[in-house]
Amino acid sequence: MPVLKREQARDVGDPSGLPKLPVPPLQQTLDMYLKCMSHLIPEEQFKKTMPIVEKFGAPGGMGEFLQKKLLERSEHKANWVYDYWLEDMYLSNRLALPVNSSPVMVFPKQNFRSQSDTLRFAAHLISGVLEYKSLIDGRALPVDYARGQLAGTPLCMDQYNKVFNSYRLPGPKIDTLVAQKSTVMPEPEHIIVACKNQFFVLDVVINFRRLNEKDLYTQLERIRKMADIEEECLPPIGLLTSDGRTQWAEARSVLIKDSTNRDSLDMIERCLCLVCLDEPSGTELTDTNRALLMLHGGGTDKNGGNRWYDKPMQFVIGADGCCGVVCEHSPFEGIVLVQCSEYLLRYMRGSPSKLARAASMSELPAPRRLRWKCSPDIQTVLTVNSHRLVKNLDMNVNKFTGYGKEFIKKQKMSPDAYIQVALQFTFYRCHGRLVPTYESASIRRFQEGRVDNIRSSTPEALAFVKAMANSSKITDAEKMELLWTAIKAQTNYTILAITGMAIDNHLLGLREIAKELKLEKPELFSDTTYATSIHFILSTSQVPTTEEMFCCYGPVVPNGYGACYNPQTDHIIFCVSSFRESAETSSDLFVKTLEGCLKEMQDLCIKGNTEAKPTDSTEKMDGNAKVMKNGSKS
Ligand code: COA
Repeated sequence: MPVLKREQARDVGDPSGLPKLPVPPLQQTLDMYLKCMSHLIPEEQFKKTMPIVEKFGAPGGMGEFLQKKLLERSEHKANWVYDYWLEDMYLSNRLALPVNSSPVMVFPKQNFRSQSDTLRFAAHLISGVLEYKSLIDGRALPVDYARGQLAGTPLCMDQYNKVFNSYRLPGPKIDTLVAQKSTVMPEPEHIIVACKNQFFVLDVVINFRRLNEKDLYTQLERIRKMADIEEECLPPIGLLTSDGRTQWAEARSVLIKDSTNRDSLDMIERCLCLVCLDEPSGTELTDTNRALLMLHGGGTDKNGGNRWYDKPMQFVIGADGCCGVVCEHSPFEGIVLVQCSEYLLRYMRGSPSKLARAASMSELPAPRRLRWKCSPDIQTVLTVNSHRLVKNLDMNVNKFTGYGKEFIKKQKMSPDAYIQVALQFTFYRCHGRLVPTYESASIRRFQEGRVDNIRSSTPEALAFVKAMANSSKITDAEKMELLWTAIKAQTNYTILAITGMAIDNHLLGLREIAKELKLEKPELFSDTTYATSIHFILSTSQVPTTEEMFCCYGPVVPNGYGACYNPQTDHIIFCVSSFRESAETSSDLFVKTLEGCLKEMQDLCIKGNTEAKPTDSTEKMDGNAKVMKNGSKS
C-alpha cells in the first residue's frame, strides 16, 4: 500500500503547501470494510456480503475501474472527495437543520441585571466578531497545528474563510453552499439582529467607518425599541428555516416572487452573521436546558422563530443569560467553531467593554426592519410548523468528575481512544450489541480537508465489552489485556483516518464516481450491509475547549445517539442526545451507564495495569503511535 510520505506528498502548486488527500488502495479499503462489519451483522448476511465485495474487488472488475477513475479525479482536484462528501453529508440531506444537523456551542451562563447589560454584552461580542473577521480577511490568523496523535503538522485553514462569508441556500433536491467572494460580491458589511422574531439590518460600516462598541450599543438599543412596537410586528418568518429543506425551498420560491421579500432575503443571505437577542426562556438554566435552548430555541412559543438556520453563525444572547452560538455545519467543522468562540470569549474578557455609559443620541442612520409579504400559504406553513423537534429531543449534559484525560494519559493510553472504548462499553451495556459508530477524524492535514470516520465499534472493542459484561468468568488481567488491545485497535484506526486512509470517504468516492459516470449502481452499494454500515446509531465527536463552554448536537438517525465529549484534565463533559420517539434509546440511561462504565474501566486500570504483562499484541503505547511502512502502526 502506498505509504503517506507527508514531505514527498506536499503539493508545490498549492499555496498552503499541504499535501493532497491520498486515495487509499482499493483492496485495503475492502478488507477493512469486511473487518468493520463482520461482527455487527448476522452471520448469514455477512456470508452474502463477502462474495459481493470479492466480485467488486476482483482483478479487472468494477472496483478497479472506479478506483482508476478516482485516481484520475484526484489529479485534477485539490481534494478528490470534498464535493462528494459535502453533498452526501450535508447538502442533499433533506432533514431540518436544527437538532439534525446544526451543532451548537453553549457559553457560560451570564448574569444580566438589566436590558442594558444584555445589549452591552451583545455590542462587546459584535466588536469581537468584527476583530476576528478582520483577522480572517487579512489572513492574519495563526495557522492551526495538529495536536494529539501525529502532532505538529500544519492544518488547512480554508474553513475559516467560510465562517462569515457563506450561506446555505435551500434547494428542492439539494442545497447549495454559496460562498461570497469579494471579487464577485461586495463584502458583507452588515449583521442581522433577530429580536422578538423580527429581523433588523445593523450596518457595521457606515461612511467607510467601522462602528465602535458605543455605536453598536446605540443601534442595538434602537432595534430593541423597534421590536417592541407591536403594530409593526411581522410573522415569524425565520421559522421557515427550521423546516425540512425541501419544504423551506418551496416556501422560499413562493416568497421570492415578491420584491419586498426578495430584498429582505438578500439582506439576510449576504449578512456577516446573525445576533439573536432572545427573550427569557422561563426555564431553569441547567447545562442540559441551555443545550436544548441553543439547539432548537425552545419552539415557537419561546425563541424558535428568532433564528435563521441557513446562516453559518448565529450568536444567541438570551435576556436570561443563556448564550452561545448555533452553527450551520456545511462550511466548517466544530473545531473552527471552537476557535472562533474561544477568541470571542477571550476578547471579551481581555478587553473590558468600552461602554462607560450608554449613548443616548446618535447621528447614525436608524437600523432597518426587514419587511415580509406573506401569502396565505406561507402563513399556513408558519402555523403548522410544529413543536415536534422540541418535544422529541432527549438531551443529557453531564460533567463526569471521576477523572479526566490526565488519569488516562498516566495509563499510557490515548484519552480519545479510551473514551471511545468507554462509549462502546456503554452502548453494549444498554443494548447488548455494538452498532456502526461514527467518530469524526480531522483530515485537515490535507488540502481542503474536512473529516473522515473512525469506525470505533471494532472487533477488539467487542471482545473487551463482552469480557466486561461476563465479568465473573474472566480475570482482571485478561480484561486488562483486552482493554489494551481495544485501545490499540482504536488508536490505529485513528491514525489511519487522520492520514487519509480510512474507508468511509473512499467508499463514498467509489459510489459517487459510478453515479457520475452513469454506471449501474455496484451491488456493493445496494447490499443491505452497506446500508447498515452507514446508519450511524452512535454518532460521536471529540470537541475539546480551553474556555468554559461545551459543544453539542443531535442524533443523526431516528434510533440513534449523538455523543459529543470534551475531555479536560480532571473531568470530561459528555453531551448525549437521542429522540424520545425512539423506544430503544434514553439519554439519561446512557449517561448513567456511561458513568458506571468509566468507573469500572478506572478500577480495572488501577488493579490490572500493574498486573497485566504487556505482550507483543498489548504493548503499551508510548505517547503517539508511529505510522509504519504499510500504513499500520507500531
Ligand atoms: N500515552 C500518553 N498520552 C497519550 C497517549 C498515550 N499512549 N496517546 C495520546 N496521548 C496524549 C496526546 O499526546 C495528547 O496530549 P495533549 O493533550 O498534550 O495534546 C492527548 O493525549 C490527546 O490525544 P488523544 O486522546 O490520542 O487524541 P487526539 O487529540 O489525537 O484526538 C481525534 C483524536 C480523532 C479526536 C483528533 O485527531 C481529531 O480528528 N479531532 C478533530 C475532531 C473533529 O473534527 N471534531 C469536530 C467535528 S464537528
